[in-house]
Amino acid sequence: MEQYIIKGGSPLHGEVSIGGAKNAALGILAAAIMTDETVTIENVPNVRDTRVLLQAIEGIGAKVKYVYNNSVQINGGSICDMNVDYEYIKKIRASYYLLGALLGKYKCSQVALPGGCNIGSRPIDQHIKGFRALGAEVDISHGMIKTSAKKLVGSHVYFDVVSVGATINLMMAACMAEGETTLENAAKEPHIVDVANFLNAMGANIKGAGTDVIRIKGVNRLHGTTYSIIPDQIEAGTFMFAAAATKGDIVVKDVIPKHLESLSAKLLEVGCEVVEGDDWVRVVGKGGLKPTNVKTLPYPGFPTDMQPQMAVVLALAGGSSMVTESIFENRFKYVDELNRMGSKIKVEGNTAYIEGVELLTGAPLSAPDLRAGAALVIAALAAEGISEIEDIEYIQRGYEDFDGKLRSLGAVIERADSERDAQKFKLKIG
Ligand code: EPZ
Repeated sequence: MEQYIIKGGSPLHGEVSIGGAKNAALGILAAAIMTDETVTIENVPNVRDTRVLLQAIEGIGAKVKYVYNNSVQINGGSICDMNVDYEYIKKIRASYYLLGALLGKYKCSQVALPGGCNIGSRPIDQHIKGFRALGAEVDISHGMIKTSAKKLVGSHVYFDVVSVGATINLMMAACMAEGETTLENAAKEPHIVDVANFLNAMGANIKGAGTDVIRIKGVNRLHGTTYSIIPDQIEAGTFMFAAAATKGDIVVKDVIPKHLESLSAKLLEVGCEVVEGDDWVRVVGKGGLKPTNVKTLPYPGFPTDMQPQMAVVLALAGGSSMVTESIFENRFKYVDELNRMGSKIKVEGNTAYIEGVELLTGAPLSAPDLRAGAALVIAALAAEGISEIEDIEYIQRGYEDFDGKLRSLGAVIERADSERDAQKFKLKIG
């Protein structure tokens, strides 16, 4: 079982280049199959989730060519199967983007029903409500979702819940429907805008992405294009918060500072220095972090995917802080792990009450999910002593070369493939 071995206590210093946004890439890779022409997508993060989705896309017969590390070519002209194999949805929920893409293109699709995950039950009722509003039959049986339609007709869809996934799935399903579709109460994340821009680059007619009302005029066909994915707001934020927690000085490069505004605002509130450039942000962590309160909200609010990382910074701030999670029902599983490092956090309902401490100490840890795992790495880098973090395959789902980038910033971290490797590294760093 792979694990990270980390020796904490060294402030992180230097520059790190941020990769393409995972949560934009997953929607864009699925949407790429909606044309029979070749699509070239650049700045694709080479992480487990994108690799699995590309395997699922190949699995239904599309051609996928890895041009080089972060660029792929996809051609959906050879798709011969509308049924996405269960093994893919088991690995990543985002395989369900193929529901909307295949329905939008072929008027039918079949994907296994995604289960819950470590952060919540994660229903997809809003996706289904939208498909039905366009005139599709949606049948759920034997753990599968089947959609079919003689034709798709533009409609008015009001989302009861702001949903990134449902907004992306409906933009794909509606972009070749007859007439106009309006999505109300739509998600506004940067990755929603990126998927809409990508579909428009293929010839779709989508307006309003980034606001809560998106209007889609159906077109007859989509064509090939070349597109580059926006930088990953959450990867950038993770390194920014690592600077705060380790009292370091980090420049995140190749970012869009506007996408990081809620993160920069919180870092200023806790006493960090934040300097913004055109495509970079510098964070200088000072000692004596100040407490504050934060509530996760849909964009442009504070992102739920940065909630665990925020809690680690506040665990080291002097005084009492509160972190309220309003998006998912079970996103505090990392708290027990943090408390084993000496933090003082109590969770009641959807709020974590944090009493800051001077110091965390290294411990054997287990990553409960993707972003909680990244947060535990930050905690281990700030802690005194050695930590071993297991189940790091969660982290590798969303961070490309995470340990390599951290080492380039001065972190003492190694990825051990075996207990023997782990022992060797622990002896080396003593
Ligand atoms: C996306 O998940 C992201 N994943 C998540 O990032 C992110 O945390 C989440 O958006 C919120 O920003 C990808 O983009 C692949 P939602 P998604 O639909 O689309 C409820 C990461 O770490 N809901 O916006 O599944 C749902 O239960 C991952 O990269 C319904 O009730 O999230 C949740 O409470 C973790 N019915 C809320 O809406 C639905 O049909 C927001 O979920 C859909 C969602």
